[in-house]
Amino acid sequence: MKNIILMGLPGAGKGTQAEMIVDNYQIAHISTGDMFREAMAEGTQVGLEAKSFIDAGNLVPDEVTAKLVEERLSKADTNDGYILDGFPRTTVQAEMLESITANVNKPLQKVINIEVDPKLLVERLSGRFICRDCGATYHKIFNPTKVENTCDRCGSHNFYQREDDKPEVVKKRIEVNLEMNTPLIDFYREKGLLISVDGTRSRDEVFADINEALSSLN
Ligand code: AP5
Repeated sequence: MKNIILMGLPGAGKGTQAEMIVDNYQIAHISTGDMFREAMAEGTQVGLEAKSFIDAGNLVPDEVTAKLVEERLSKADTNDGYILDGFPRTTVQAEMLESITANVNKPLQKVINIEVDPKLLVERLSGRFICRDCGATYHKIFNPTKVENTCDRCGSHNFYQREDDKPEVVKKRIEVNLEMNTPLIDFYREKGLLISVDGTRSRDEVFADINEALSSLN
């Protein structure tokens, strides 16, 4: 069982590392950002509630986000393990998660914090592009597709850039998350669950550290 949180500022590489972990361990990937984007695309109530916050680079209210996570963690595909990508982001959410994991009996085992200097994040996010068919994430310079305009994973030629990756929204996202990050790191350090990895290296080097931490979990 591998029940983990991937923490890090916007663009730190949470989604990239989550894809690599899923390929290796076949555990459920729970990205609150992806869930909100799906809900917005489908026009659901949650999507409508989330849209104004996401478009402005702010956090969606804790109760809305925690409810989504609780529903997701209740599903059977998380029984063998899960990666929470982008949740929690506030200490209030972290406390809510403690109740959720106790309710569903899927205790958290490790919190991996991917550390990247905020100065590097704007470049990472403005160069990001995503496969519309399978969700694989690339970067124009740091992680291009092997064959131009063709997804390595599914062969699609259909890519997009996220609306909230516009420079003015990116700056706001980083600012909002920076403010919440330190108390959250302290919360998990005090619980003895936190490990930090240097996210400024190549994605394979970052993954090697994460993989080492995960291999000790059973
Ligand atoms: P979300 O989708 O979670 O966005 P985020 O946290 O801002 O993180 P990103 O997905 O932008 O970045 P990432 O760390 O996954 O980086 P990636 O791997 O893509 O959330 C979106 C919004 O939803 C939030 O702003 C908020 O409004 C709302 N929301 C979500 N969760 C919430 C919550 N819990 N509470 C309230 N609101 C919530 O990498 C970025 C780029 O860098 C890519 O191009 C990649 O190829 C490249 N890259 C990755 N690794 C490396 C590397 N090692 N070296 C060089 N480049 C790299």
